[in-house]
Amino acid sequence: MAAIRAAQLGFSTACIDAWSTDKGTPALGGTCTNVGCIPSKALLQSSEHYEHAGHSFADHGIEVKGLALNIGQMLARKNTIVKQNNDGIVYLFKKNKVTFFHGHGSFTKAVEGGYEIKVVGKTEESIVGKHIVLATGSNARALPGAEFDEELILSNTGALELPAVPKKLGVIGAGVIGLEMGSVWRRLGADVTVLEALPTFLGAVDEQIAKEAHKLFVKQGLSINLGVKIGEIVKGKNDVTVNYSDDKGTVHVAVFDKLIVSIGRTPNTNGLNADGVGLKLDERGFIAVDGDCKTNLPNVWAVGDVVRGPMLAHKAEEEGVAVAERIAGQHGHVNFNTIPWVIYTSPEIAWVGRTEQQLKADGVAYKAGTFPFMANGRARALGDTSGMVKFLADATTDEILGVHIVGPMASELIAEAVVAMEFKASAEDIARICHAHPSLSEATKEAALAVDKRSLNF
Ligand code: NAI
Repeated sequence: MAAIRAAQLGFSTACIDAWSTDKGTPALGGTCTNVGCIPSKALLQSSEHYEHAGHSFADHGIEVKGLALNIGQMLARKNTIVKQNNDGIVYLFKKNKVTFFHGHGSFTKAVEGGYEIKVVGKTEESIVGKHIVLATGSNARALPGAEFDEELILSNTGALELPAVPKKLGVIGAGVIGLEMGSVWRRLGADVTVLEALPTFLGAVDEQIAKEAHKLFVKQGLSINLGVKIGEIVKGKNDVTVNYSDDKGTVHVAVFDKLIVSIGRTPNTNGLNADGVGLKLDERGFIAVDGDCKTNLPNVWAVGDVVRGPMLAHKAEEEGVAVAERIAGQHGHVNFNTIPWVIYTSPEIAWVGRTEQQLKADGVAYKAGTFPFMANGRARALGDTSGMVKFLADATTDEILGVHIVGPMASELIAEAVVAMEFKASAEDIARICHAHPSLSEATKEAALAVDKRSLNF
């Protein structure tokens, strides 16, 4: 995004990226496109179809006989979608006249007029850039003593490539990746056990929403164990044994066919030669930047997972665009208060703004309004009435302070709340806007009405 925007603004722009396909050709788009957002959503969709065909089609009067899983085709479809996205970026680079270098980039030294960057790919070359934008992303964090082999102990990469459905799947970390990938393989038939260190489920999510989601996931068959302490992890020939103690201190020994470790990610700064040019990292190993994504080196910027802030592709994109605009002397801006979050489980969880627990901690007087999808006609017709929409508004001004959703298509519904918050709307503003009937968005309007205790349909 930074490269495209910079080129649009008239800069001569080069983008260096090392990611390769199995055949050694460029695979543009980084983690999001290759082993993150895009392939995981492809598998989430496929596994959801499979689950519907097996469990809910009958209710619609559709009889399915001989339902079978072709995991090879499912993975092939996912790979095709990834390739379409890779190729889409090549097209966008051509269209915007961004010059692409396939290889690993690192700083050589500061030179007259900028920085010399070494690119090591099939060949080795050096280029000079006046402004440098670092967007090197992050890598899965391994548990000590349990390095990823992507065969038995899997990061997000291996979790998207399992050639068969494991009978018993262990997941360490009940965060975004653990819940999304755990959901995929559970729907396809795996017996999934999630082991989470913290005593609370999804601590960053609004408590009421997290509780509702927890209830729904447990009902679906995910075994979620909170407050566990992971002990020794031992790899067998075809399985992994995890020793852990539960929240009461009882020791367990669990044997899994595969183990996903999703305990967070670490910034990719290795191999940049940061030391060589004096690029400063912060105490957590991220590239240190100010509010404008400026590093300590003149004309060197950093964006995305490799700097502070949420590890979200859309946050990275916004920062990349803003940096390109700042280089051009414009006033690029990223509003960290209105970055939406989505967890693509089923039902989805999405939110923007502050949670009820944050408002309490900040001492803000607020009003809350909720509306359950159970009372929404479109959700009933869809056959998915789980979850709710929740509004939090300032007690005095009625300004929307947070919107939290667990339910069908939450990822799409949250956009209205983001727009509303960007425009500093009040809950009443949303309540007074005409929403199409029948649609899930009516639940948003009703939750806004509920802030003033005047829901019409509940
Ligand atoms: P996460 O930060 O979402 O969750 C990690 C979980 O592991 C936490 O609940 C943490 O308490 C737990 N944990 C940490 N150490 C542990 C230990 N030793 N034993 C047991 N539990 C432990 O990280 P995750 O899921 O790895 O995702 C990485 C990043 O990727 C996140 O920042 C996330 O926002 C991003 N991402 C975003 C997606 C989305 O926007 N839908 C999808 C996938 C990833």
